[in-house]
Amino acid sequence: MFDPAVFAARREAFMQRLGPNAVAVVRSLPERLRNGDAFHPFRQHSDIVYLTGFAEPDTTLILRPGAETEKFVMFVRPRDPEMEVWDGKRAGLEGAKEIYGADAAYPAAELNTRLGDLIASHDELHYGLGFDERMDLLIAATISRLRKLERKGQRPPRAVIDPRIALHELRLHKRPEELAALRKATAITCDAHVAAMAAGKPGTFEHELEALVDYTFRKRGGAGPGYATIVGAGENATILHYIENRCAIADGDLVLVDAGCEYDHYTADITRTFPANGKFTGPQRDVYELVLATQKSAIDLVKPGATLDDIHDHCVRTLTDGMIRLGLLTGSVDERIEDKTYRRFYMHGTSHWLGLDVHDVGAYTREGKARPLAPGMVITVEPGLYVAPLGGHLDDHEMPAALRGIGVRIEDDVLVTEVGHDVLTAACPKEVAAVEAACRG
Ligand code: GLY
Ligand code: MN
Ligand code: MN
Repeated sequence: MFDPAVFAARREAFMQRLGPNAVAVVRSLPERLRNGDAFHPFRQHSDIVYLTGFAEPDTTLILRPGAETEKFVMFVRPRDPEMEVWDGKRAGLEGAKEIYGADAAYPAAELNTRLGDLIASHDELHYGLGFDERMDLLIAATISRLRKLERKGQRPPRAVIDPRIALHELRLHKRPEELAALRKATAITCDAHVAAMAAGKPGTFEHELEALVDYTFRKRGGAGPGYATIVGAGENATILHYIENRCAIADGDLVLVDAGCEYDHYTADITRTFPANGKFTGPQRDVYELVLATQKSAIDLVKPGATLDDIHDHCVRTLTDGMIRLGLLTGSVDERIEDKTYRRFYMHGTSHWLGLDVHDVGAYTREGKARPLAPGMVITVEPGLYVAPLGGHLDDHEMPAALRGIGVRIEDDVLVTEVGHDVLTAACPKEVAAVEAACRG
């Protein structure tokens, strides 16, 4: 629900952090051609969503906390009745001011000529370099022009600062209205995973499950998937970013589904792995129970003061111990952690921030060390174990044939609370009996 007061408060908090001598420029990413003259659907830059709720393309925000007038300026597409017949309604300059709270609004096409005056004579320019080459060039050209004007009193900023310093720290700590959106996203996503477990019988196709999951997201009022839905059956589950989703699901396959609904721009991120025929085989269950026990004990560690490194180290140790017990590795846990051979089977991190972006913003370290978790942060906990099939990258290694081609990941979304944590995705089955029951439908 759009509440202008929420966005005004976020801008105020951001401007407080910027201080009077800084200016921030936030630009939407360009619309992208898909093929021919067809575009990918536009999705607003999360920083703009966070500061305004404004979803239209070709938008630039300029925030100038120290300015007397025009503290918050928006460049937007002007109203254009002819274009609006084709592409839909625009808020225009009037809407930018009246609905979205801008002190001043200008046509997007005037950004080039007005940017210099708006950023001149501030010490710091907060701008995210490296995402949009054209905007980077405009910023560079504007700074270059201001240098030449220094004797006339318009000096360029002395530093260009990454938005993670001020803005992304705010985004990292979720406020109640953000958590409400995340709870909605996670609730819908839990239902979609349960639907996939019930539908994913042998003989169905990975893309059918993808369609069912994405349909559930839309049917329930979500915007769709917050990232491309992954459905990997059998050995496809060992490919971390498998999004082809084109194979038939066979009897005896495990099916890995990694999918999250985006609701009100916030995305969930859940992975579940289930047996297509409703019953884990012995070796599948051995791997599954190892990942499950690892994941549950890792979630138990989530509380204020803990770090993502603590959680990851715990997963690496527990999984490596299990790999030795399963016959995937030999020697001691310490030796296999030391020589990193566990990475043959667990090659990704355990957690990331979650919010408006699936891999959400916010610094992971402070002074070179993992930062302590704090209430309001939302993280994923997603250990896995992946044994490449014959012909894969593990061919020169001897290991139990029964484990070949098994891939398991279990991923939940976890809010750090004052006293510990709250698993936002707890409604999604993950115990062996609960998963097998969900597969029976
Ligand atoms: N779905 C992306 C991830 O789990 O990080
Ligand atoms: Mn994730
Ligand atoms: Mn995921």
